[in-house]
Amino acid sequence: MVVAGKGILAADESVKTAAKRLASINVESTEETRRQYRNLMLTTPQIEKYICGVIFFEETLHQKSNDGVLFPKLLAQRGIVPGIKVDEGLAEFEGSVEQYTKGLEGLGDRLEKYKKFGCRFAKWRAVYHITENTPTEMAIKRNAHDLAKYAKTCQEHGLVPIVEPEVLIDGTHSIDACHKATENALREVFAALKKENVMIDCAILKPSMVISGKEADNRAGVDEVAMRTIKVLKAAVPFELPSINFLSGGQTPQEATAHLNRMHTLNEKLPWYVSFSYARALQDPALKAWRGKDENVEAAQQAFLKRAKLNSLATMGKYTEDMEEMNLDAVMVH
Ligand code: 13P
Repeated sequence: MVVAGKGILAADESVKTAAKRLASINVESTEETRRQYRNLMLTTPQIEKYICGVIFFEETLHQKSNDGVLFPKLLAQRGIVPGIKVDEGLAEFEGSVEQYTKGLEGLGDRLEKYKKFGCRFAKWRAVYHITENTPTEMAIKRNAHDLAKYAKTCQEHGLVPIVEPEVLIDGTHSIDACHKATENALREVFAALKKENVMIDCAILKPSMVISGKEADNRAGVDEVAMRTIKVLKAAVPFELPSINFLSGGQTPQEATAHLNRMHTLNEKLPWYVSFSYARALQDPALKAWRGKDENVEAAQQAFLKRAKLNSLATMGKYTEDMEEMNLDAVMVH
């Protein structure tokens, strides 16, 4: 799962989130349309050159490609590692905007089941809301504790845990506020992982980048996002962690690629492999090209492959903005 030039595709939208994505292209969300959409991505020729793992939602584990092959098997045949989202979504702390993540109960039994379907890693997402008074110490501690319990349980059952603390981009907050919240959250997460005796060298971190709020005035540019993100990671993440795979968190596909690329051109020595585990930033152009129509599948696959290729180049600091305008074949010869 840690392979130079490759990253992870997050295709683990819950049924509710998948419905939102499909609604954006006027496609009704049914088990079959969700299968078709996943089939489109997972059968894209050559994605194994850029993608080394895919995170599934449980429903997809049981579904088959158009050729009748179970999706986890199809991936394994292509040398891509299948993984699974194991958290059960978010719940509110009473009287607060803050949230915690559900799903620890019975987790071990579910992991055993997912292993039988071929899953080799898992993912658990915790979120942090930035407002004037949040994230609070209480939420930071609770999320760190639950992420650590989840990670420990995964390792006890032989799965690699992806630990995903996401500081949400929603709001008008400054990059300073995001910097502080991210550093506090990460420090607490790694303290909790240590306390639970989680093997850090057998885990993956999936963080958000240090970035201005989506509705902030004067949002920070690419240089500042890349520099601040690496600074926070170096301050809070142990060097024995093998891989950091960012989420895109509401950035545009271009922004997510440019930020990752810049981290690799800062002239800083990075102790971990630094790559991507994007959902929206990898999928959005493909979704828009597809629009639920068979005749668009090939164009959608090309759009998906192009995004995967550009992000692969970004993991090596070889992406340039002019590639956005090139067709896939032109990017391929770079
Ligand atoms: P985005 O890249 O769309 O933020 O999704 C990543 C993810 O896995 C969210 O849990």
